[in-house]
Amino acid sequence: MDELIPLLRLLADGDTHSGNRLGERLGISRAAVWKRLARLQALGVPLEARPGRGYRLAQPIDLLDGAALKAALAPATRARLAAIDLLPTVDSTNAHLARLAPWPAPRACLAEHQSAGRGRRGRPWVSPLGASLYLSLAWPFRERPAALETLALRAALAVAEALEDLGLPGVGLKWPNDLVADGRKLAGILIELQGEWGGAQQAIVGVGVNVHLPPEAARTIDRPWTDLATLMGPERPSRTALAAALLDRLCATLERLEGGEDDDWRERWRARELYRGEPVRLLQEGGEIQGVYRGIAEDGALLLESDGRLRRCYAGEMSLRPAHTQPETAP
Ligand code: BTN
Repeated sequence: MDELIPLLRLLADGDTHSGNRLGERLGISRAAVWKRLARLQALGVPLEARPGRGYRLAQPIDLLDGAALKAALAPATRARLAAIDLLPTVDSTNAHLARLAPWPAPRACLAEHQSAGRGRRGRPWVSPLGASLYLSLAWPFRERPAALETLALRAALAVAEALEDLGLPGVGLKWPNDLVADGRKLAGILIELQGEWGGAQQAIVGVGVNVHLPPEAARTIDRPWTDLATLMGPERPSRTALAAALLDRLCATLERLEGGEDDDWRERWRARELYRGEPVRLLQEGGEIQGVYRGIAEDGALLLESDGRLRRCYAGEMSLRPAHTQPETAP
């Protein structure tokens, strides 16, 4: 995979490049160029062959830039992160960090492509090369923060605020941590926790933001989705700028959680929350509960009015849907 990145950088300008010229610039044969192009296509990069002329990207690609990322981070974030792993490809950025645990200090991972991206409730996360942002942040807590159960919601708020910092207001939050724009999913978060009750705790916060999904790859997504290209057009931030904004907001959020700071996150969450007062279905393994969404409790639980009483539901493996959507067959 590493050898595919120089080829991608040559193609990134969106122009047509002949196989000969690409081979010359990379110091490889035309046949080797062709093999690499086929591999790029298999990783979800849409390519066009122009007979007699060469190859071009069907849509421009915006690769991550490690040096620019570090330079764009707030000094506090830079000081807090022990490492940022920037990988061409990986199974899952969450899995990569989990393999490196325990971490002495917070550590981030970004990848251009995930071969086995993971979503919530055991679903896959479509992760074509260079088309979205795949970012995970590992955070070692020396002791379990009192409000750890609010992490899922606070992480979603951090992502929404990072997007606002970058000029995209109006992103809604769907409990516990989906980001929705124009009624379509823009980003999702997978949080994985490990630790001993009452002792040290390890958190991995994995964020996927759709940036410019090629239609071919997006065909396998079975829910309404959107991406930054649709919402912001060419004015959208680079993936590197997006990564920096996300890391700044997430690090600040985790620091506050760690320090037991109860800032006004609930008010900020409520200002963006979707479906409050509306009939919803709450999906969980083995069934669903219907009721009216009454917002979030102090501890981040979902308040569901159902059968004349108010139930508290915790994130875990649950998923919220507006009542009018189609039932799902399997999680
Ligand atoms: C969801 O189902 O909404 C959560 C999606 C989370 C996807 C991100 S992409 C980076 C990180 N690595 C993964 O394998 N998953 C998360």
